[in-house]
Amino acid sequence: MQQSNHNACILVIFGATGDLTSRKLMPALYDLEFKNALHGHFRVIGFARRKKTNEEYRKEIFDSIKKFSKMKVKNDVWERLRDKIHYHQSEFRDFDGYMRLDRFIEKISGQKSKNCNKVFYLAASSEFFEVIVDNLKKAGLAFKGSREPYHRVVFEKPFGNNLKSAAKLNDIIGKSFDEEQIFRIDHYLAKELVQNLLVLRFANSMFEPLWNYKYIDHVQITVAEDLGVEKRGSYYDKAGALHDVMQNHMLQLASLVAMELPVSLNAADIKEEKVKVLRSIEPFSVKEVHNITARGQYGEGKISGKKAAAYKDEEGVGKKSYTETFAALKLKIDNLRWTGVPFYLRTGKRLRERVAEIYVVFKQSTPVLFHEHLKNSELNMLIVRIQPEEGISLQFNAKVPGAKILIEPVRMDFCHECKFGPNTPEAYERLLNDVMLGDSTLFTSWGEVENSWKLIDTITKAWQGKKPKFPNYEAGSCGPREADALIEKDGRKWIEPQKPSYSVLLENNHKK
Ligand code: BG6
Repeated sequence: MQQSNHNACILVIFGATGDLTSRKLMPALYDLEFKNALHGHFRVIGFARRKKTNEEYRKEIFDSIKKFSKMKVKNDVWERLRDKIHYHQSEFRDFDGYMRLDRFIEKISGQKSKNCNKVFYLAASSEFFEVIVDNLKKAGLAFKGSREPYHRVVFEKPFGNNLKSAAKLNDIIGKSFDEEQIFRIDHYLAKELVQNLLVLRFANSMFEPLWNYKYIDHVQITVAEDLGVEKRGSYYDKAGALHDVMQNHMLQLASLVAMELPVSLNAADIKEEKVKVLRSIEPFSVKEVHNITARGQYGEGKISGKKAAAYKDEEGVGKKSYTETFAALKLKIDNLRWTGVPFYLRTGKRLRERVAEIYVVFKQSTPVLFHEHLKNSELNMLIVRIQPEEGISLQFNAKVPGAKILIEPVRMDFCHECKFGPNTPEAYERLLNDVMLGDSTLFTSWGEVENSWKLIDTITKAWQGKKPKFPNYEAGSCGPREADALIEKDGRKWIEPQKPSYSVLLENNHKK
């Protein structure tokens, strides 16, 4: 990534002491600094409620960078970034805090705040989005339509907590900002292997002709985490897996797998095709929800041999919580390409391992010649491993050596890191840089947000109407039995992630 005048900017992070800032945003800024991609005049201001000095804040940030950055922590890089970090204490609702912010920007940049490029990153709970946007406008810190210097605003997901609140929020911010100033985050879009999906599909003549109901039996998408809710219990208990991951990351992945060839690589054209997928999802009623979904909540268990608490005992979570920490969903896309091909999505916390994979499962080959031999074999599959150990695998049938015909599935693996090296930008590193460049390709449009809430609202309504028996899966397991039942009733099984063949190689490389 190159340093450019675009990132001579003031980045203000609302929610600067939260989990997202320490886990993702600051490590991403460190990685950008490491690659010399932050301009000398770039400054980041942490805006948060707690009282603390600059020095205290910088120390906390250094600790999280040491913990979460993928890059080596080097003193000279840290010192460069450290000098760019500032802390501004204020309540989000306190207008005076914004007036002080205006003066603070002038002080640290040496020029009037109105002359600075500014990015406002709302890494706070969405209940504060409205008041923050309002105060920014009233204090003259941001205005509609500015190009030079630019004023941009970034919203963390979830954008709203249902269609109604999301639409209201969209209207409000539309009064203060033009669409091109608004960046709605879904960080999965910036993961390298997710970006690779378009290339895989549309730059390879061998996949596209097979990418339809004639050859594909079904698609599975798994986003599993071994982590629990960490320090985000009070947020998560209101969101659950459905709103936290299914409404955004999972539906985005499904749209990228299912979309038609966009007219161009232009952000608007790609988004338009994704919206069409969301709008083509076969509608379902509240009554039908139990047929196409499964949910779960973890109880006590063990993760990598260590005892893990039940969800209800996590900090910030209600003792009687009915919030799901696992969600599975079966979708059908009602268009020419996908008639009759189910998409099975599942996501959850405190599962056996952290892994995100897409499986495109092909139909059984016409079993004329090998009818008997293929009976118990597995289906051909294309597997996109989003994380960890990013890569793409193709599973096909091969002959086992010997006189008799025995068939076994084998995998051919492409290891992303082995080919392109370990320094592929992390999702947030890419996104922060793109906001400063003004490139919204990897952000979501209002149409995408709107249509995903339409689907999810029906599920929320059905789930709220019926109390589940929770907990129903152990921390460290593969999820609830109900999720297995969801796919098994169609005569299929969840595909359990396998370590790719190159994982030993990567492990050895990382030890060096
Ligand atoms: C976030 C969710 O959007 O994605 C978190 O809010 C989740 O709950 C995270 O842990 C997973 O992201 P990643 O990049 O670690 O897979």
